[in-house]
Amino acid sequence: MTVPTPLIAGNWKMHGTAATIDEARKVAAQVKGTSPRVAICPPATLIHQLSEALKGSAVLVGAQDCHCESAGAYTGDVSAEMLADAGAKLVILGHSERRAGYGETDALVAKKTAGALRAGLEPIVCVGETIDQRKAGEALAVVTGQVRGSLPPEVAGQAFSVAYEPVWAIGSGLTPAVAEIEEVHAAIRAILRELFGAASDSAPILYGGSVKPSNAAEILHAAEVGGALVGGASLKADDFLGIINAL
Ligand code: 13P
Repeated sequence: MTVPTPLIAGNWKMHGTAATIDEARKVAAQVKGTSPRVAICPPATLIHQLSEALKGSAVLVGAQDCHCESAGAYTGDVSAEMLADAGAKLVILGHSERRAGYGETDALVAKKTAGALRAGLEPIVCVGETIDQRKAGEALAVVTGQVRGSLPPEVAGQAFSVAYEPVWAIGSGLTPAVAEIEEVHAAIRAILRELFGAASDSAPILYGGSVKPSNAAEILHAAEVGGALVGGASLKADDFLGIINAL
């Protein structure tokens, strides 16, 4: 079985100005080698500047969203082609903050994922249940449904990852028990196998939600955890490096 190369990706969300690039420089100075792969996903305004600043380093730059079309009359939107042109190599799609705040459906996330692949970007497709869904015993059904609905057929044979981010764990300081993470990741792996065959074994399944230097080792060494999608702790170089070095 192919073991995925782990990916540790920082999601800066709507944080960061030109001054924050210094934090990314500090991270890049410490990251050597090809495993884990490390990415930073800043706001769209910083993608070009960050790509220039990190040129020649091992740290990749990613985006946090894209439109599904390559160009058109879509005021305020940015296409995957534009993000690639600015220097992005990856893009986070279907984050729960976009699903909840902008009504993004699985179908739209699938279209965006196809758009990202068309532009040569590696999608990080996010899924995760709410606290009410977990309490109702629906976590596995919700997550596997999102995986089925959010990954288009174009994903077959391409580089991509899935990020399991329980909505209730994001920014809350709460995390599921390791056994709960392993249960969901195993279910996601099974769906990927079913949909895309053994080639998808190289796709890492990331965990996201309150990952910190203090809990990173336990989470990152859990079965089928192929890395992390890190929010708050990716904004400070020391914290992000603490997570990267926990692997
Ligand atoms: P936190 O790490 O701040 O909980 O955010 C997780 C997240 O949403 C990453 O996409």
